[in-house]
Amino acid sequence: MNKFFATTPIYYVNDVPHIGHTYTTIAADVLTRYHHQKGKEAQLLTGTDEHGAKIAEAAKKHGEKPKEYADKISQEFKKTWDKLNINYVRFIRTTDEDHIKIVQEFLLKMYKNGAVEEKPRLYKGLYCVPHEKFMSKDELVNGLCPDHKTAPIDYAEENYYFRLSDYQQKLEQLISEDKIKVRPLTRKNEVLGKIRQGLEDISISRANLEWGIPLPFDTSHTTYVWIDALINYYTYGSANDLWPADLHLVGKDILWFHSVIWPAMLLSIGEEPPKEVFAHGFFTINGEKMSKTIGNVIKPEELINKYGVDGTRYVLLAAFPFGEDGNFSWELFDRLYNADLANGLGNLVARVARLSEKSGLSINQDMGEHETKDFEEKIESLDFSGALVVANHYLKNIDEKISQEKPWEIKDKDKLQKLLTSYISEIVKTVKLFQPFLPQTAENILSQFSGSIKSAPPLFPRV
Ligand code: MSP
Repeated sequence: MNKFFATTPIYYVNDVPHIGHTYTTIAADVLTRYHHQKGKEAQLLTGTDEHGAKIAEAAKKHGEKPKEYADKISQEFKKTWDKLNINYVRFIRTTDEDHIKIVQEFLLKMYKNGAVEEKPRLYKGLYCVPHEKFMSKDELVNGLCPDHKTAPIDYAEENYYFRLSDYQQKLEQLISEDKIKVRPLTRKNEVLGKIRQGLEDISISRANLEWGIPLPFDTSHTTYVWIDALINYYTYGSANDLWPADLHLVGKDILWFHSVIWPAMLLSIGEEPPKEVFAHGFFTINGEKMSKTIGNVIKPEELINKYGVDGTRYVLLAAFPFGEDGNFSWELFDRLYNADLANGLGNLVARVARLSEKSGLSINQDMGEHETKDFEEKIESLDFSGALVVANHYLKNIDEKISQEKPWEIKDKDKLQKLLTSYISEIVKTVKLFQPFLPQTAENILSQFSGSIKSAPPLFPRV
């Protein structure tokens, strides 16, 4: 099919957008732009997760009603994505009318199909509010959630249950056969291993939390925030003839929700599961998870101020292999920016533009495209840093060619212009590879190298 529907997670509305969130979103945007470039109707969905105990508590702290509070702060993520040139089709909020309606329809179907136990029953356990999830004792370190360093609360309530255990075999089969492609492969194996240990039924409602979507079959309960949140993909996808989604891009911490719980929910109403779920690694700071609760977040603005929008998009994806964790450091990012963008692409473009301007060169033909299976395979398997290595390799080749041919020594104008045109042709083709990563820069370079060529200020000033 000629469409590509990708999603980012919907971010907790009261979180501060940090480079962890930014990472997922930029990666999804790059992929969407890539498919768009290939002529597909590519759409990216993102938004905010606005129900649940965590938001209710935050609102209370601010002395506001949850909805008022969410309305006020929900633009933070949107503003950040707009600044970063994220080309989403819809910014969905779980408090949007159409979403609430779809969640209720979805849950009613689950209930009518017998996928939800008829009556609520007691649930007891430890609940981590910042995570919005139940945790087992062995997940804790010294009694605290290892990610948030906070103590989970004791929780005992009558909850409705989803019969997740009914889907064990089906899920195992779908995932092992790549009908639901879980990637990277190590994660697929982890998920399969965990499924094989057995699936337990899960609680899907809250009896004592008002801030949520009422269950359609028992309005004294609200929907557990994760169940509500996962359905956002379907709210947009089903209304726009885009279901099943081609890709849910998520961090490794929320892979289980996306590769097991969510597909089972879809199967329970007779819908198709997503085609692929990809879990990327984490940015850590001194080896620790970045989070508002810990207070060690790096904000995208800090990167944008230093590297610009495209520079930020670039360094985040180039720094580490996409599936793996990576420790953030300014030294590493500065080095990468200077080497690849300031001294690499930026310098090459400036040199060739200067020589071309001096020789009065004008370009009036289409330069075509690289045929590069290698690059395509890398980007389609979400190996962004690998794809960038391939693209940078083309630039190095052009640099070498220029060093060997020494165009600045050539006096014969025709010969010189021919050479410069050949460099420009290579640059233009390579810039098209960079385009999903560096949309604004690519546009600038492509227009600089068409018609009569002029020098321009440095694309990526050194830091
Ligand atoms: N609201 C839920 C998602 C519901 S989706 C149906 C949620 N939100 S979140 O704001 O906490 O995190 C969203 C995404 O950011 C996740 O994919 C998570 O993995 C990612 N990241 C959060 N911190 C991160 C890093 N430090 N590094 C990389 N990504 C991380 O979970």
